[in-house]
Amino acid sequence: SGLHLFSSNAICRSVHHSPAWSFMNANARLAWMWRLLITPALLQALHMAVLQGKGSEVSKVLQGPLNYLDQSLSKGNTPYLTGVQYLHLFLVATALAFFQYPFSCHQRGDRSYEGFRFEPRSVFSSLPQEGKRNLLVTSALPYVNNVPHLGNIIGCVLSADVFSRYGRLRGWNMLFVCGTDEYGTATENKAREEGLTPQQICDKYHAIHSSIYKWFQIDFDFFGRTTTEKQTEIAQNIFWRLHKHDFLVEDTVEQLRCESCQRFLADRFVEGTCPHCSYPEARGDQCDKCGRLINAVELREPQCKVCRQTPVIRSSKHLFLDLPKLEAQLEQWLDKSTSTGDWTANAKQITRSWLRDGLKPRCITRDLKWGTPVPHPDFKEKVFYVWFDAPIGYLSITANYTDKWEKWWKNPHQVELYNFMAKDNVPFHSVVFPCSLLGAQDNYTLVNHLVATEYLNYEDTKFSKSRGVGVFGDMAKDTGIPSDVWRFYLLYVRPEGQDSAFSWADMATKNNSELLNNLGNFINRAGMFVTKFFEGCVPAIELQQEDKKLLALVGWELQQYIQLMDKVKIRDALKHILNISRHGNQYIQVNEPWKKIKGGDTERQRAGTVTGLSVNIACLLSVMLFPYMPTVSQTIRDQLNAPQSCINAMLQGTGTFVCALSAGHRVGTVSPLFQKLEVDQIEALKKKFGGQQVFDSALEIITIKAPQIQTSISILRALKAQKAEKAVITAEVTKLLDLKKQLALAEGKSPEPAPQKGKKK
Ligand code: MF3
Ligand code: ZN
Repeated sequence: SGLHLFSSNAICRSVHHSPAWSFMNANARLAWMWRLLITPALLQALHMAVLQGKGSEVSKVLQGPLNYLDQSLSKGNTPYLTGVQYLHLFLVATALAFFQYPFSCHQRGDRSYEGFRFEPRSVFSSLPQEGKRNLLVTSALPYVNNVPHLGNIIGCVLSADVFSRYGRLRGWNMLFVCGTDEYGTATENKAREEGLTPQQICDKYHAIHSSIYKWFQIDFDFFGRTTTEKQTEIAQNIFWRLHKHDFLVEDTVEQLRCESCQRFLADRFVEGTCPHCSYPEARGDQCDKCGRLINAVELREPQCKVCRQTPVIRSSKHLFLDLPKLEAQLEQWLDKSTSTGDWTANAKQITRSWLRDGLKPRCITRDLKWGTPVPHPDFKEKVFYVWFDAPIGYLSITANYTDKWEKWWKNPHQVELYNFMAKDNVPFHSVVFPCSLLGAQDNYTLVNHLVATEYLNYEDTKFSKSRGVGVFGDMAKDTGIPSDVWRFYLLYVRPEGQDSAFSWADMATKNNSELLNNLGNFINRAGMFVTKFFEGCVPAIELQQEDKKLLALVGWELQQYIQLMDKVKIRDALKHILNISRHGNQYIQVNEPWKKIKGGDTERQRAGTVTGLSVNIACLLSVMLFPYMPTVSQTIRDQLNAPQSCINAMLQGTGTFVCALSAGHRVGTVSPLFQKLEVDQIEALKKKFGGQQVFDSALEIITIKAPQIQTSISILRALKAQKAEKAVITAEVTKLLDLKKQLALAEGKSPEPAPQKGKKK
């Protein structure tokens, strides 16, 4: 058609969409094989041969994929690849992608990318589109009854945000929804604590969550809540469908009821004597002394934790989701979803261990007031159990965003669903909720990719709201550290594959070494050279061997970034951005454009090439950074005065680096992107935000407790010298230990030994 295409992926896509080549649509397998198998293998081979000088080992990485290709061809089910001319086309395309790409495009005014642009989100709500990748992204709905801490933020909303920003960059059609999880006992209790109604609590904390996520630049398409009419409508509809298809069973349950509080007591709200070891403060679900699980009705001398009255045993009828009956269907679906989708290892493993012992029916009703009412006339006074109700929130929140919500949620053939969460949420998303949807039989979209993080610890202990340990979402902005830097650090230590820890000192180190000295330094130097040596205009580029080598390195890192991001390896992908600026810094260091600019024509020409290339790589970095640090990303493009189109071009298809700033392009005002975090500044922040928020003034406690400890120590010495009675000494020792514990708490140290399992390798 006279159109010039320069990237293998642009060619694949145009071939794929053109009516004249419509036969290709019947064979998506071809594109799949090429993009996922052959291209990466060829790239790796190229990397080995050219950059590592291991040409002889190339066959190791190529043989497997080529065998596969061979087999597929010999089966004869991919007729079009065997057509010599098409094979030829793909080979040429690939060769072009490897050797030519950086400069092919801007010379032609970049028209070849039309149709693959980064689409700013429209004011209309988005719906799945034919012929596009339609991704529905959810982040676990945070409990409304408290302020999220950094661990909560990285586990779901921030991870989901990075991925959906990346998806938009890639030109996929994305919908990203989340909202607060508002029903349940925990909300009722919080309301009692704060002297508010449950609704008031929800309103208050929903607003707090919203503002925290806004500060963190979490770019939801919609952030809703579960206490809406749509929720009632959709939850009840699913309930009736389960009922109709006979997946609900009835059973009688014995429960403790406190007559003075007029409510049934959740296990955590009863205390009594352990029936096994007689420990007097056992909880309704477990004894902390002997560790055994307890059934609340078995406790001796049970007490209501709220009013200390003795509850009575009442039996109550409940409805159970018949998981055993759905098990076979679930397993069949799971096999397919886990093998075709990107499930994190922990998600698969937790799911497997749930299934291993066989599923038992799960109670979906509760004797509470604050919940979605059960519509069945025999269960009028009851509400749905939160874990039955909450995931339905994904659907109802979408329904509050668009009337056509079913186009997302009852459309498994067109939509791919990504669920982001921390690992404790896995079984509800992989077993219980899918069973509800399978049993309801209404062609629901089920999760395709279940992305679960491990835990983020705080320094060397756990985040804990009750002990006030850790940084909470609302405090981050009071530190004066920019939102982008918080995002960067949290994503840098994202607990991907193993637990990790937030540490103040490490945050300062990473800010200073990676952001300031590496990334920021490279981008700033590149921009400054253009400003200082070339009057603000990007110089012309004439590539030499060294430049080509840099381009190959950058291309390689970009490919890695894309491959990892496609698989939601968010933390790993970030490292490749930093590798690019590291290569860039080295390249500048070796080529010394600040010296060459003072030399003769050839030397000045070299300074120009080095500068031109560097500033174009800076522009690429701004695009790659967009999912992680949206503000910095925009600032870089503003400073470079980069065209919006550079976003479109860079990350489409399997991604190739395009020089977006051509010779003569005028950059804007360049200035430093990051600030150093000083040691004393971070120490002050750690003291102020990191410790025990429960103490109003930790300092006060330290000044009071420390002398008391000294006193206690001298008393002990005196007692021992006088050979005092053992009981007297023991009493003083207990007192001293207690004082020390309080002091440790006040100083922000962990009074308990740090948990071992969270340690980094
Ligand atoms: N509120 C739950 C938590 O924070 C998550 C609920 S996810 C949902 O652990 F899908 F059930 F909503
Ligand atoms: Zn009570």
